[in-house]
Amino acid sequence: MSDLNKIALKILESGKGILAADESTGTMTKRLESVKIDSTSDNRIKFRETLFSSNGMKECIGGVILYDETIRQKSSDGKEIPKLLSELGSMPGIKVDTGAKEMANSSSEKITEGLDGLRERLKEYFNLGAKFTKWRGVYNISKDHPSKLSIHSNAHALARYAALVQECNMVPIVEPELLMDGNHSAEDCFKKTSEVIKKCFDELILHKVDLTGIILKPNMILAGSESSEQISNEETAKLTIKCLKESVPSDVPGIAFLSGGQTEIQATENLNLINKFNETNFIMSYSYGRALQQSALKHWAKDISDIAGTQKVFDHRAKMCTLAAQGKWSKELENV
Ligand code: 13P
Repeated sequence: MSDLNKIALKILESGKGILAADESTGTMTKRLESVKIDSTSDNRIKFRETLFSSNGMKECIGGVILYDETIRQKSSDGKEIPKLLSELGSMPGIKVDTGAKEMANSSSEKITEGLDGLRERLKEYFNLGAKFTKWRGVYNISKDHPSKLSIHSNAHALARYAALVQECNMVPIVEPELLMDGNHSAEDCFKKTSEVIKKCFDELILHKVDLTGIILKPNMILAGSESSEQISNEETAKLTIKCLKESVPSDVPGIAFLSGGQTEIQATENLNLINKFNETNFIMSYSYGRALQQSALKHWAKDISDIAGTQKVFDHRAKMCTLAAQGKWSKELENV
């Protein structure tokens, strides 16, 4: 077993998942302003430290994806954030892409940037304590999208990123996200997600990436949020498994879904069903941002000094997701 494979398995062991707390300053500002909190550097670390130091981390969160600002910050008692996480048994990770920008010759689509100088930045993050990394390619779905150009370019970038990350002894999270926005059918989401994931693996293999040392972070198969033809959670779970079974090489140890705008309960219920029906050898867990933090953020915003209360809300969500990653969640447990 390679060291990278061990790290990937450790992050996702026993139903543990990943907390995606890597919102860029721009995105974090939107999240904080939505609950009427000023987006100062101090407030950003206050909220994040509240989650990072909570009990649920130990039991449920195998890894935390940090943003560049956060990996350099310290807790209120002066501890480096990667150290705080490591002491709780959670691996520090880092988002290393520099964002999705308008694509030349296909202006309604995005290409993720950040390859220039990446090798040097990776060394720095490794020295700051990072064990794994994230890069997100983003695709919109419509009749003509994602285009061949977007599928090809983003897969190429993801593969070059993953190869450099492994060279630096960290586990790359490979995240191709097809957005929920739009009125496309679940069938379209299935077809296009399959095409995107297959192309990503073609490129990963071409770039000689060790597939046993990556974590795939895909979207679930859903109808567009504006579609009148929504499918049931059972259908989402079955189509998601079918898509991954057909598109992901069996060497990949783990899959950690993004929540992508689903509600906390929907993201939990769908993950639970995926694990109930899972007929693959892949670990199927979570790498949620909004679906782990939304309620905790709302609670915290009401009184930012109520650390224990906020942690209680976060711990509950993390516990529910970890049960779902084992197929052991039920709606009744939400009210216990
Ligand atoms: P969401 O779970 O809020 O989609 O965030 C996950 C993530 O890391 C997106 O890149």
